[in-house]
Amino acid sequence: MPYSSIIFERLDNIAKITLNRPDKLNALNRQIFEDIEEAISEIELDSSIKAVILTGSGEKAFAAGADISELNECDQFSGKLFSEFGSKIMHRLENLRVPVIAAVNGFALGGGCELTLACHIRFASTNAKFGQPEVNLGILPGYGGTQRLTRIVGRAKAIEMICTGNNINAEEALRIGLVNGVYEQAELMTKVIEFVNIILSKGQLAVSAAIDSIIMSDSLSISDGLLYESRKFGEICGTDDFKEGTSAFLEKRKAEFSGK
Ligand code: COA
Repeated sequence: MPYSSIIFERLDNIAKITLNRPDKLNALNRQIFEDIEEAISEIELDSSIKAVILTGSGEKAFAAGADISELNECDQFSGKLFSEFGSKIMHRLENLRVPVIAAVNGFALGGGCELTLACHIRFASTNAKFGQPEVNLGILPGYGGTQRLTRIVGRAKAIEMICTGNNINAEEALRIGLVNGVYEQAELMTKVIEFVNIILSKGQLAVSAAIDSIIMSDSLSISDGLLYESRKFGEICGTDDFKEGTSAFLEKRKAEFSGK
């Protein structure tokens, strides 16, 4: 499928999506969202894809937010649709069955920050800046920022970031748990691929079930979440990977997972 605003590549069994409007700091316009959505469908249909890395082109930005020229056209009715359109795509990304990792190579502002929040985890380059500057434009985050940022960094920090519109640097993002690691920009992709390969060496059905249960914890009570986890645990105990992983341990050899 040809894409006009993203680059979709395969690195063995990793899908790499690069937001590709560098002259506009990869601002998220309708076209880029449509491309991301199409890429998500491609990933969902291709069982050989085991992980996704999302990054931005150029050395300056991951994504500097929703496209403000498109946003400027909104009224109270189209504004709701504008928010729902991007939000739905981010929800689909978050609910992919494989790990989705953001390699944040520069500005991740507004919708760009929200897109990283819809990824399962984030790594950043030293020059990265995160922020929800929507209040500077007289709006609030519309792609899940009030919900996901709060869950990731806690209410007080989310209120501080969203209500001041101040950006934070990569070091601060690491300190508050918004990113899992910070690397020099030239090293970022290599480090992220190394991290992904650690996950890929494990039982992929277990990885998938674990991410699913963790995402579900956002919307379930603790007792329903524990029931959900037990159900997933039971399902996984019926897989070849489970037999292989536990047998390999008992036979003192390295497990060879088949993903079945
Ligand atoms: N929407 C549309 N265009 C955007 C954009 C956005 N969110 N962010 C940047 N751009 C465009 C600029 O308009 C400029 O285009 P031009 O060259 O045609 O004028 C180009 O990207 C480069 O941006 P510029 O502002 O010149 O770069 P800078 O280095 O001076 O500043 C930022 C970088 C990120 C601080 C600044 O671009 C910015 O504040 N962007 C908006 C961030 C924001 O409010 N995001 C939330 C949106 S809801």
